[in-house]
Amino acid sequence: MTTEETRVGYIRGAFTPLADATIPVMDRGFLFGDGVYEVTAVIEGRLVDDGPHLTRLARSLNEIGITNPYPAEKWTQLEEEIVRRNKLQNGLIYIQVTRGVAERAFKYADKLEPTVVIFPQFSPVQYSPLTKTGASIITLPDLRWARCDIKSTSLLAQVLAKHAASQAGVAEAWMTRGETITEGASSTAYIVTQAGDLVTRALSHETLPGITRQTILQIAHQRALNVIERPFTRKEVFDAAEVFYTSASTIAIPVVEMDGTPVGSGKPGPVFDALYDAYMQAVMTLPVIIF
Ligand code: PDD
Repeated sequence: MTTEETRVGYIRGAFTPLADATIPVMDRGFLFGDGVYEVTAVIEGRLVDDGPHLTRLARSLNEIGITNPYPAEKWTQLEEEIVRRNKLQNGLIYIQVTRGVAERAFKYADKLEPTVVIFPQFSPVQYSPLTKTGASIITLPDLRWARCDIKSTSLLAQVLAKHAASQAGVAEAWMTRGETITEGASSTAYIVTQAGDLVTRALSHETLPGITRQTILQIAHQRALNVIERPFTRKEVFDAAEVFYTSASTIAIPVVEMDGTPVGSGKPGPVFDALYDAYMQAVMTLPVIIF
């Protein structure tokens, strides 16, 4: 069986055991965080929301002026090969593209060859017990830059936020600007109001355009839920009927406590359950890469 120790990645143009893979010290990803990434879920041998993830990857690359090294079909072939070579039934595919290798200087040459890294992670995303029990979260100030819509590998603010969450013994940190929740450190934030409206921020430079969000909102529209894309405050979280977050690495997690205070009903609510079940049903209709 493939394990974390024996997994195979696609590193700078070749499938290589991850344990043997190396990246030059002069890689701009290492020196400057000059790159972007994607995280795509694999559930029961299926690549989840793959097309939208690759579209967002292309957009992130374009926004920072790196030429996309591959067309979408080639990316998908590489991802599928990672799934097969690692017998990855349930987990994540991580893709990173950096601007490439060059002498350390802020200014970059236009013609660098981007560094591509793809590897699997074996965390069974959709089987988190938190989906049933609900999670506790904390809030803290959003310390990030002004282009949070780019899935940049410069993640220091989120690293610190996640560490604070871990120190507090909770699953996630939601970041705030003033009284407003921007998003989770690695997730999109939602509330369901007492009136039954599903509220999440509209897309802007202040948040990542979550792919799970995109699919969840499609499902919500299909189910004739009233979706309102607007910012919401900490106070609205405490007043909400339901609270939850989504990401490729967790799919969807209900929130039952924020900053030590209970929120919602103390368990997953009916809107959350319906959206989660519909999402998972849709996943099970996707093509299977490995059995
Ligand atoms: N992060 N917002 C932020 C800041 C994120 O980092 C993520 C995902 C999301 C959710 O996006 P999506 O539904 O496309 O996964 C929202 C990934 C999982 C990560 O960094 O590991």
